[in-house]
Amino acid sequence: MSDITVIGSNMIDLITYLDKMPVEGETVSAPDFEMGFGGKGANQAVAASRLGSDVAMITMVGHDNFGKQQLHNFHRVGIDTKCIGVGSKNSGVAPIFVDPSSDNRIIVVKGANNELTPEVLDTFREQIKNSKLIVLQQEIPLETNYHAIDLAVKYGVPVLLNPAPANKDLNLEYVSKVEFFSPNETELSTLTGLPTTNLDEIKKAAHVLVDKGVGNIIVTLGSKGALWVNKDNEEIIPGKKVAAVDTTGAGDSFIGSFAHYFTEGESVPEALKHANEYAAVTVTRKGTQKSYPTKAELKELVNV
Ligand code: RIB
Ligand code: NA
Repeated sequence: MSDITVIGSNMIDLITYLDKMPVEGETVSAPDFEMGFGGKGANQAVAASRLGSDVAMITMVGHDNFGKQQLHNFHRVGIDTKCIGVGSKNSGVAPIFVDPSSDNRIIVVKGANNELTPEVLDTFREQIKNSKLIVLQQEIPLETNYHAIDLAVKYGVPVLLNPAPANKDLNLEYVSKVEFFSPNETELSTLTGLPTTNLDEIKKAAHVLVDKGVGNIIVTLGSKGALWVNKDNEEIIPGKKVAAVDTTGAGDSFIGSFAHYFTEGESVPEALKHANEYAAVTVTRKGTQKSYPTKAELKELVNV
């Protein structure tokens, strides 16, 4: 039995570090480039696995060399790969541009991730049934996520849905069935149609979802931390201020590490505090998955 099953995407991240974004028709040369393993699903799985969770991933890699490298990486990190398929398309890739202020712009070419259909997912029912937590994002077809939620509800397995990247077509009826829903401010606004420009508005929008039946809303607030709302609680779990060099994948490290700490038995606010710490470390290091520390590394980094 896996503690955590992540159903979602894998991408090869092609990260260019820029001094300045080119405008139309302009060519600029950039000081640095890194290629690494990414994709929101894979990132979340890797974060939980690095911290010691037993993690399985349901995903589709491409039929190309990138697909082979992804599989190799999943093995290397210790993720259970028995539910990983090889599609007929190219692997998902993500050209990413990071500016000097550490902010990023991401283009996602989903490729084989679009081949993770509800039918494919259906062949992995047993894996879903035997998990403590199912983790979902939005880089695979929405219908597949809906099917995952239906199966998880049927088997009584809680779902953590991270609605990233934002998709205005996400059906609230499905959102209302999940135990944890973790949007950022923008994703929360997209889904509810409400403004989320300040904390009061964010709280209001979160409560709308609680009233619809979502177990817990965790709104990520970047370096400010996270807002946790359920029908009995409303609490801000403050983040850590750090010198950021690359925020790519920080949100995923937060979700994956939260999944780890929560399935280890921590309370929601405790798990959020630890997830904030974990994500803070990742923004101080370049790259996506490669910036995610193991449990041992984390101990050293957080104690200094
Ligand atoms: O959240 C960061 C991730 O988004 C990157 O790894 C990239 O692959 C895109 O999926
Ligand atoms: Na990073």
